[in-house]
Amino acid sequence: MATRRDRQTRQQPAGGQVEGVAARKAALALLDAVLRRGEPMDRAVHASCQRLPSDDRALAIAIAGDALRWLGPLDALIDSATDQILPEDSKVRAVLRIALVQLLQMRVAPHAVVATSLAMLIAGPRRLTHAILSRAHRDDWTLPSVPPLPAPVAERWTAHWGKEIVTAAEAAWAAPPPLDLRFRTAALAAAYADGASLGPKHRRLARAGRVELLPGYADGDWWVQDLAATIAADLLGQGEGRAVLDLCAAPGGKTMQLAAAGWQVTALDSSAKRLERLRENLARTRLDAQLVTTDLRHFTPDQHYDAVLLDAPCSATGTFRRHPDVLHRISQAEITALSALQHELLARSARWVRPGGRLIFATCSLEPAEGEAVIADFLRSHTDWRIDAARPDDVPAGVAIAPQGWVRTLPSTGSDAPDLDGFFIVRLVAPPT
Ligand SMILES: C[S@@+](CC[C@H](N)C(=O)[O-])C[C@H]1O[C@@H](n2cnc3c(N)ncnc32)[C@H](O)[C@@H]1O
Repeated sequence: MATRRDRQTRQQPAGGQVEGVAARKAALALLDAVLRRGEPMDRAVHASCQRLPSDDRALAIAIAGDALRWLGPLDALIDSATDQILPEDSKVRAVLRIALVQLLQMRVAPHAVVATSLAMLIAGPRRLTHAILSRAHRDDWTLPSVPPLPAPVAERWTAHWGKEIVTAAEAAWAAPPPLDLRFRTAALAAAYADGASLGPKHRRLARAGRVELLPGYADGDWWVQDLAATIAADLLGQGEGRAVLDLCAAPGGKTMQLAAAGWQVTALDSSAKRLERLRENLARTRLDAQLVTTDLRHFTPDQHYDAVLLDAPCSATGTFRRHPDVLHRISQAEITALSALQHELLARSARWVRPGGRLIFATCSLEPAEGEAVIADFLRSHTDWRIDAARPDDVPAGVAIAPQGWVRTLPSTGSDAPDLDGFFIVRLVAPPT
């Protein structure tokens, strides 16, 4: 039976342009932004897909995402099929990448793939592309069911975490993860009809298209937040009217958690645009926080806080399941620079914690330089601070607490540990005076 996508590509609209090409052109633009310019894919989607109808935008994102996941095997197939040297950034290689991923991974009908691919090329590359796609079809080419991580990442993570975690990461990379919802209250979560519960305020849904259309979204009952991302604010417990400074807060997952748990929240971020999203999120969930737009490096509050939460800017390599671009973009030099920034921001944040108060440091990174190393360095220079070890009832079931007392979530090896983003989270206590 013809799918909607097939029908789209078979019909030739007035003017002779092959239908379905706009989505493929957008997918090419996304790949180019990530691989050549090193841009985050979310930003590129904003720039390249804004005018597309939502179906086309979703298709472009799916094609680019899968092409990034299977980039290594796709290139190996392309290079095995021609004696020509196709430069990394050549258009014909890019078209072949997205064509083959549609054919071999997404199972888009071959005629649709061929028509849309050839429509984007001029004569010479068109012949080569046609020959390679025909061969892929004729010789039953396949891609591995699990994509290998890019070599530098596999090397780095093998050194840090071992081979078993790299294998688990590859399995996790094969598909976008499920959708985690965090509810304002446990009662709202318990009353929610869909999904599985991995905690009192949590529901996990299989990926569900447009989140705005899900029950409870318009009423502000929940927001989307990976279960691992909820651990940092949960380590602060109930606020009971106490004051918390939420640093690097936008778009506000942790701000909403803290406000819902009864904290008086001051939420700071340097990005006015991202704070605008935080403001919208607060309005939708009917939660309250005071917002401050400024660079933390130049911020001096006029009070001390019962707790400070620093969700520091980081490489975000822990979010690779949802953001397949991140493993192609982030270099060791960027990790080193971000680690230095985190050292600086943590030392600054510590100044605003009242004596005996708590300081949470979190990053959504799978790089020890952005987690364990930052804390080791902080404790060396702040000898009167200590770690307040997380306890089993502070974290979702199956999440391990390190002997040092921090939480490090890693790709699940299939035991009892849930599938989560990669995070580092630690709770520190300020000296009593
Ligand atoms: C990991 S995200 C925060 C996610 C957020 N805490 C949440 O739970 O939704 C990091 C944030 O840090 C902000 N940021 C980066 N550098 C900053 C700085 N020097 N001062 C303040 N905010 C900064 C970014 O704008 C970004 O919103």
